[in-house]
Amino acid sequence: MKILTSHLSRLTFHGAWFDTPQTICYAPRQFSACRDWSAFTSMDIKDYLEQKRDDVDRFLDSVMPSATTAPTTLHESMRYSLMAGGKRVRPILAIASAEAVGQPAPGLMPIACSLELIHTYSLIHDDLPAMDNDDFRRGKPTNHKVYGDAMAILAGDALLTIAFDLCSRPDLMKGCDPARQVRLIHELAFGSGNMGMVGGQVFDIQAENKDIDLPTLQNIHKHKTGMLIRAAVRMGAIAAGAQDRQLDDLTSYAEDVGLAFQIADDVLNVTGTREELGKNPNTDAERGKKTYPTFYGTEGARKLADDCAVRAITRLSSFGPAADPLRELARYITSRKN
Ligand code: IPE
Ligand code: IPE
Ligand code: MG
Ligand code: MG
Repeated sequence: MKILTSHLSRLTFHGAWFDTPQTICYAPRQFSACRDWSAFTSMDIKDYLEQKRDDVDRFLDSVMPSATTAPTTLHESMRYSLMAGGKRVRPILAIASAEAVGQPAPGLMPIACSLELIHTYSLIHDDLPAMDNDDFRRGKPTNHKVYGDAMAILAGDALLTIAFDLCSRPDLMKGCDPARQVRLIHELAFGSGNMGMVGGQVFDIQAENKDIDLPTLQNIHKHKTGMLIRAAVRMGAIAAGAQDRQLDDLTSYAEDVGLAFQIADDVLNVTGTREELGKNPNTDAERGKKTYPTFYGTEGARKLADDCAVRAITRLSSFGPAADPLRELARYITSRKN
C-alpha cells in the first residue's frame, strides 16, 4: 500500500503521468466498481492512473467534434488544449469516488469528463494576458499564443458549454435517474461557477500584489482549485448513489485533497522546471502572488500539503479497500512532479 515516491517521481513528467508507454501488467478493463482492492499496491496505482487516463482521453476524443467540423478553427483550438496531455486528475477522482461507493453509476464517464472540459476551459482563460499571461501550458504554447485571444476565449466558452451538454445528453446519460442527473448538473455548476472556481479566480486576481494573510490565501485555494475537485469527488459519489454519511466523508476528503493539490502546485511553481511542469515556473512571484511557500518556505509548504493528504486519507476510515485508489490519489497529488 505504501506508494514509492521516488519511483513515481521518476515516472512523472509533463504531459503524461509515466514515461513508460505501456505499463507492466495492465489491469483488466472491468476492474472498475466493486473490485476487491485488498491487494492494491504502488504498482497498481501506476496502472490504475494510466488506464483511467486512457479511458478519459478516449472518451473525450469521441465526444469532441473533429478539427474539420465547422467552425474548424474553434474545434481545432478546443482540441489543441483538451488533448494536450493533462493529468486528468478531476475525472479520475470522480471515477475513483464512484468506485469507493461501489454501486453502478450510469453516466459516470460523461460526468467525469465534463469536469475535464471545465478544467481545460479554466486553464485556457487563466493563461490569457488579462489573467496570468502565461506562454506555456501542458508542454505547448498556450492556446491564445497559437489561436489569438478571441479564439482562446471562445474555445474556453465552448468547452464550458459542452461540459453541460455531456451531462444532459440522453444517449450518454442513459440509465441515470433524472433526479440524480439534475443533482449532478447542479454540483458541476456550483463547483465551477461564481461560488466555486470562477469565484476563486476572482479572489486570486484581486490578491495580486497585495499583502494578503493566510486565511485569504486559503480561501483563494479553496475556491479556485478546491471547489472543482470537491465537485469531482461528490459527482462520482452521487452518480453511484452514495448515502449521506458517505457523501459527507468523501466531501471532507475532497476538501483536504483540493487544498493539498493547490499547495503542491504552489511548491512546484517554485521548484519545478519548464520541462517537468509543461508550463513556466516562478510565475507566481513574477505576478506578485503570495503562495504557501511565501508563508512557510518550500519545505514547510510541502509538509503542509503532506499533512492535508494524510488528513484526507483519515476521512476515508469508514470505507474499505474499494477506496484505496482515492487514498493513493491523495498521496500522488502531493508527490507529483507536474
Ligand atoms: C493546474 O491543474 C491548475 C490548477 C488548478 C492547479 P493540473 O495540475 O491538474 O493541470 P493539468 O490538467 O494536468 O494540465
Ligand atoms: C489555476 O491556478 C486555477 C484555475 C485555472 C482555476 P494557477 O494559475 O495557480 O495555476 P497554474 O500555475 O497557472 O497552472
Ligand atoms: Mg491563475
Ligand atoms: Mg495560472
